[in-house]
Amino acid sequence: MKKNPIIPFILIMAFGIGLIFFLSMEGVSNKEEIAATEEAAEGGAAEGEATAGSFDPEAFAQGKCISCHGNTYEGQGSFPALVGTALSEDEIKDVLANGKGAMPGGLVPAENIDAMAAWVKSLE
Ligand code: HEC
Repeated sequence: MKKNPIIPFILIMAFGIGLIFFLSMEGVSNKEEIAATEEAAEGGAAEGEATAGSFDPEAFAQGKCISCHGNTYEGQGSFPALVGTALSEDEIKDVLANGKGAMPGGLVPAENIDAMAAWVKSLE
């Protein structure tokens, strides 16, 4: 029997199509896995924010304060340092609640202002 010279090409093509199918299925299940992990992470963060008891001033500052006060809170340019501030804790609470000059007020939720001011005072 004479072999059809096109058969090896058909086999390779079939293998290639099979591989594409396999990889796309693999991709779909990976995507679902990644989405599930991301959702879990987001849910966890939102929960942490909602519970006032677990307010973390350091993490909050990393998100909301370092853009102006610098990532070591030493200040930068016209933004004053938070480290070693001359203000009292009560004055800090006032700045956080009402703002001061270019410093926006209301960044820190009211129920967390005490914890935030105490944390600013604790910076050295
Ligand atoms: C948009 C930029 C900006 C952001 C964001 C910002 N600040 Fe400020 N902050 C300022 C500026 C400007 C001043 C100086 C205000 C003045 O004295 O006129 C200031 C002053 C302060 C002071 C008083 C310091 C002193 O010794 O006079 C404190 C305390 C302070 N900020 C805390 C915070 C905290 C905590 C956060 C994060 C929740 C924060 N700031 C986020 C701009 C910012």
